[in-house]
Amino acid sequence: MTKRSITFYLNGRPVEAYVSPKDTLVDLLRNLDHFGARESCGQGLCGCCTVLVNGTSVSGCLELAELIEGKNLDTIEGLDAGGELSVVQQAFIDAGAFQCGFCTSGFILMVEQLLDENDSPTPDEARDYLSGNLCRCAAYPEILDAVQLAADKRKSLQKEPA
Ligand code: FES
Ligand code: FES
Repeated sequence: MTKRSITFYLNGRPVEAYVSPKDTLVDLLRNLDHFGARESCGQGLCGCCTVLVNGTSVSGCLELAELIEGKNLDTIEGLDAGGELSVVQQAFIDAGAFQCGFCTSGFILMVEQLLDENDSPTPDEARDYLSGNLCRCAAYPEILDAVQLAADKRKSLQKEPA
């Protein structure tokens, strides 16, 4: 199948890549050695492949790669820029909010978005916001603990003098 060149921004950096018409964003990311977005159901049902396109979460298993032309594509790999984990990433570790970890990058990206929109989500609000993400290991209680930990940490950081 004929490939064509596209350019876009991957975690803030300009990138050129070659894609075929059937490639998805997950295929594109694999070809660029980005393995954080995982393909599980392949049908837009589980959230394991979550990435952000121009700041909006999408299922990387469904979106065609060539449509990313000129846009911003953000993935879990962009969160620890500078080698330091984000508050949400650290909260997932501290809360033990994963077992196999297959769903974790999708959950973390969604929790980052949740806390950007609502700095104090209730457990019900968090559950509702994350309802499109599935965890086969059923780490849901710990994931909700991680949301609380991250929300508290973010607020305490905001209060610290610059
Ligand atoms: S793999 Fe994309 S939503 Fe499940
Ligand atoms: S930690 Fe295994 S699927 Fe969520």
